[in-house]
Amino acid sequence: MSKQTETVRRMTVPQITRRKGKSPIVSLTSYHAHTAAIVDKHVDFILVGDSLGMVMHGMDSTLGVPLDLMIMHGKAVMRGTSKALVVVDMPFGTYEESPEVAFRNAVRIMKETGCGAVKLEGGAQMAPTIRFLVERGIPVMAHIGLTPQSTNVMGGFKTQGRDRDSWQSHRDDATAVTEAGAFAVVLEGMVEELAALITKDIAIPTIGIGASVECDGQILVLEDMLGMNAWTPKFVRVYAELGPIIEDAVSRYADDVRNRSFPAEAEVYR
Ligand code: KIV
Repeated sequence: MSKQTETVRRMTVPQITRRKGKSPIVSLTSYHAHTAAIVDKHVDFILVGDSLGMVMHGMDSTLGVPLDLMIMHGKAVMRGTSKALVVVDMPFGTYEESPEVAFRNAVRIMKETGCGAVKLEGGAQMAPTIRFLVERGIPVMAHIGLTPQSTNVMGGFKTQGRDRDSWQSHRDDATAVTEAGAFAVVLEGMVEELAALITKDIAIPTIGIGASVECDGQILVLEDMLGMNAWTPKFVRVYAELGPIIEDAVSRYADDVRNRSFPAEAEVYR
């Protein structure tokens, strides 16, 4: 469990829930200690998202992310932070089978990383699992709308709610995860009108990613907003273009090694 000491005083799950309708909740993903330490100063919660499989490990989707990898990155983010609530994603295959399997794997995540909550994808069909975990002391953030672990069923990364006929089932998902005890819910890739309706419907905060300013809070993948990926989705605002900056630094270093100007006098022990 993370300690609430003089140096470590983290945002808590009830504090996040109480922010509904008050001030916007700020969140980013982070996967390792050094970026998490920077992000920690500015956000309410950090998500160790399973997007790390694609962003950090070059996978084609999040489906191949193992539980041990989430735990390793979760531990790193906990070591680098002292203020934000840290939420760790449950990867594909670790919670869908039954509430009991989900509980065992969520316990591993909570015990081994020391994080404050887990996140899992799915709406009404996952509500019994969310209830099972919450009743046993595991705070759960839900995730509905575009759920990347189900893209094979959805037929790709498709914006949700373009067809009004689908709105009721998304609203039912949001209500089901709220009634099951989720403390917040991520709305991913969803048209604005639907995100607005859901945000009004439920008593817990909605955290949007590609779901408009109507949500109670926002989350982005850190590397997306830092301009480090080759492709940027429409909903991302790029706050820095670090990709070209890193490339320039690496190329100048390579030149300096090749032309023997690095290391120079100032960089040598005498
Ligand atoms: O894995 C992830 O980074 C996420 C966010 C996109 C919400 O689930």
